Amino acid sequence: MDNGIFIGGGGADYVEKQFLDLKYANRHGLIAGATGTGKTVTLQILAEGFSAAGVPVFLSDVKGDLSGLAEPGSVDVNLHDAFTERAARIGFTDFSYDAFPAVFWDLFGKQGHPVRTTVAEMGPLLISRLLDLTEAQEGILNIAFRLADEQGLPILDLKDLQALLVWTGENRADLSLRYGNISVASIGAIQRRLLVLENQGGTQIFGEPALDLADMMRVGKDGRGQINILAADTLMGAPRLYATFLLWLLSELFEELPEVGDPDKPKLVFFFDEAHLLFDDAPKALVDKVEQVARLIRSKGVGVYFISQNPDDIPEDILGQLGNRVQHALRAFTARDKKALRMAAETYRPNPDFDTESTIREVGVGEAVTSMLMKKGVPGIVQRTLIRPPSSKLGPITNAARSKHVAASDLGTKYADAVDRDSASEMLQRRAEAAARAAEDAEHREEEQSAAEREFSAARRYSGTRVSRSSSKSRKGTLDFDDSSLGGAIANVLVKEIKGTTGRRIVRGILGGLFKAR
Ligand SMILES: Nc1ncnc2c1ncn2[C@@H]1O[C@H](COP(=O)(O)OP(=O)(O)OP(=O)(O)O)[C@@H](O)[C@H]1O
Ligand SMILES: [Mg+2]
Repeated sequence: MDNGIFIGGGGADYVEKQFLDLKYANRHGLIAGATGTGKTVTLQILAEGFSAAGVPVFLSDVKGDLSGLAEPGSVDVNLHDAFTERAARIGFTDFSYDAFPAVFWDLFGKQGHPVRTTVAEMGPLLISRLLDLTEAQEGILNIAFRLADEQGLPILDLKDLQALLVWTGENRADLSLRYGNISVASIGAIQRRLLVLENQGGTQIFGEPALDLADMMRVGKDGRGQINILAADTLMGAPRLYATFLLWLLSELFEELPEVGDPDKPKLVFFFDEAHLLFDDAPKALVDKVEQVARLIRSKGVGVYFISQNPDDIPEDILGQLGNRVQHALRAFTARDKKALRMAAETYRPNPDFDTESTIREVGVGEAVTSMLMKKGVPGIVQRTLIRPPSSKLGPITNAARSKHVAASDLGTKYADAVDRDSASEMLQRRAEAAARAAEDAEHREEEQSAAEREFSAARRYSGTRVSRSSSKSRKGTLDFDDSSLGGAIANVLVKEIKGTTGRRIVRGILGGLFKAR
């Protein structure tokens, strides 16, 4: 096949070559199977295939074993014989070892380039999910975001969000008139959740320089797509953060990429490992949004592939959109397993040569029941496929090798250091200082005024100046002055914001309102 990725051999004796058609690769996919059945290697060979076809790939590396993509496999490893034998069996005559253009990323900045985003970019819905807020608390967060927008306060990092919450609390009497009750208890609860997030490393994730998607979507001079590997081992300890971050990334892609309809090959393919984490106790509103993003992002040329042990970890509406499927072996110990297996089998177009359900139970490691989209996007008849061996190294590379790759990356130090520019916390700080100064001035003037009044009464004559009027005028004057300088500061920041490398709005309308606003 000219426009396809070779995935393995099917049919009798495994000699019929099976391909993933690049034209339909943006119609999403699923890699499922019990533990140890070959999901990660399947992901690896798909990533290799996309990269070789000039399609950049993003993947989360949960166990660290996908870092092997950066280095070639070797004839010296134990598995060499098994690989060559497997390749021969499926007629993969030009099997060879090769390394791929991998770029390492890490939310915590330890195992790769740091990935940052701003609080505003993530938006109230995802932040609420991240903090596991109740509906009432989420309502307050929405108000805080809206206020920040109205007041021109960029919320970049967690410090900004904290400051904004304090400010919302201080002004809650006025704000409650406009927006309904804002309780101190709810604000306190959000602040405590923020502390937890900070302890999980959230401080590093929110801020600037924010990730520039273009840096993930590069195709090298050799025509190969960059493979972005997100270190997700530590991240798995904070599953909420993991899921929210990946959702954010999807929503960013959706927003920033132009419509392309049905391209010859995807612009980017996104692999979502441990996909069940996305949906575990996710509120319906969020699941609906994931479903919506999955449906819409296709026309931006982005294919999303979910990896999970059991297909029933994934909500039905989303599962229904996953056109390209690699189903590794499923076990059927319990009644629930059996039901899940039957349901999984029923979603495939039957092959007269074998029974889908029992085959899913029987297939060996690195073997799968597969169904890829064919002409006109129709699912192909199910195949029993022996998956090809990987060309890159199987398993993790050493820490030293990883550090070397990161140091040699042509992204250089672009993301290395966080930049803390003027934003909500500093601006609110200045605002508070200005207010304190104004209050002090006013007090001062009041003192002067009473002194003048005393003098006036003592002198019992007309002084020529209406002391009280001039006092109130000058007081107002002071406030005007502070307001305008504050306005000036806001305007400056706004200009910076608009001119900023990311060119983003302060709080955006977002995903056509998908994630960042309700
Ligand atoms: N396509 C393949 N070619 C060659 N060997 C394979 C292939 N797929 C799987 N294997 C072998 O099976 C082992 C387990 O596969 P893999 O790590 O992909 O399982 P997994 O489903 O990701 O497991 P887990 O759920 O524990 O992450 C691999 O280390 C490799 O030795
Ligand atoms: Mg795995």
